[in-house]
Amino acid sequence: MQLHTNQDLSSSNTLQLRSQAEHYVELHTPEDLHSLINDSQIRKMTWKILGGGSNLVLPFKVQGLVLKVANQGWSLINEDADHWFVKAQAGDVWNEFVQWTLTQGYWGLENLSLIPGTVGAAPIQNIGAYGVEVKDSLWEVTCLDLQSGEKKVFSNKECHFSYRDSFFKQEGAGKYLIWDVTFRLPKKSTLRLEYGDIRKEVERQGWSLDARSVSKAVINIRQSKLPDPKVIGNAGSFFKNPIVAQELRDQLLATYPNLVSFPYEQGQFKLAAGWLIDRAGWKGKQLGPVGMYEKQALVLVNHGGATADDVWELAHQVALDVKNKFAVDIEPEPIRW
Ligand code: EPU
Repeated sequence: MQLHTNQDLSSSNTLQLRSQAEHYVELHTPEDLHSLINDSQIRKMTWKILGGGSNLVLPFKVQGLVLKVANQGWSLINEDADHWFVKAQAGDVWNEFVQWTLTQGYWGLENLSLIPGTVGAAPIQNIGAYGVEVKDSLWEVTCLDLQSGEKKVFSNKECHFSYRDSFFKQEGAGKYLIWDVTFRLPKKSTLRLEYGDIRKEVERQGWSLDARSVSKAVINIRQSKLPDPKVIGNAGSFFKNPIVAQELRDQLLATYPNLVSFPYEQGQFKLAAGWLIDRAGWKGKQLGPVGMYEKQALVLVNHGGATADDVWELAHQVALDVKNKFAVDIEPEPIRW
């Protein structure tokens, strides 16, 4: 294990912000973490955990120590009559793992194809797309305690998952490092086609209706709407879809009959933040080096040379405008370091 200083992070964050870590280390084994914990100098530093950098807004200089989780490898670890249990390491690239499950005939992750980031980051914000969330098939998460280095296993329930949220973003934030994730995937495939244009895309291509086709359809749809972070810096959806009371949703619907909303828990409704931002006039609009993407208003893009301040200034203006026009608060999805 090698400790680096002034490590460039510009290509380790999908928003492509210029950034440098004061200290940086890659973890391959739990023992690597133990050595860091046992080093009194290193212990004094502020620690930050880096996965795929796809949900992060980085400052120009990250003080303290950045730990890049670099363990890799996935395998089938168990099965019962109806399920396969597969384990992936936190450092694995999410989509590569998803594609492997599909080649093996382990179903259930197809709707989550092509989401950027790592396996370890997936439970933190309970990644989701096309009617499926990671919590739907996650069995358990193995963590390393950042104080003691000890392993601790969290069941699905203990992860307190909700829409783009979990224990690891709330009470557990800064306390644990996710080391591996186990999924329970059904032997019999149940396709979820109701969301968006998945069924239409499979039919348009003339593919047979199965999980691998759903994955290919999701990839096509994502590629047509979302910018490739290697080409244009972005962090996927920049805001969460807001959850509002039925009363506000009904008021808005009276003024905007084509408002996009979905029933959520306990009489609440989820609104499409992309729709609100679009209607507020921000789609394709630029503010300095950053802007809201021309094909999907929910995605904040870096046209080149942006800083974290540029990102937050645009996010602030967009959120303020949405609040003034619709009386709805929208909250950023990425984490700010
Ligand atoms: N819409 C507009 N204008 C826009 C963008 C969207 O009117 O510029 C409308 C669409 O027409 C649609 C609705 O808003 O009626 C929802 O749009 P879309 O289906 O594209 O999904 P989303 O709610 O914007 C969410 C997730 C995405 C995920 C897609 C597909 C969040 C914050 N985002 O986006 O996740 O891929 O659904 O399931 O929940 C991510 O989190 O980074 C991400 C990309």
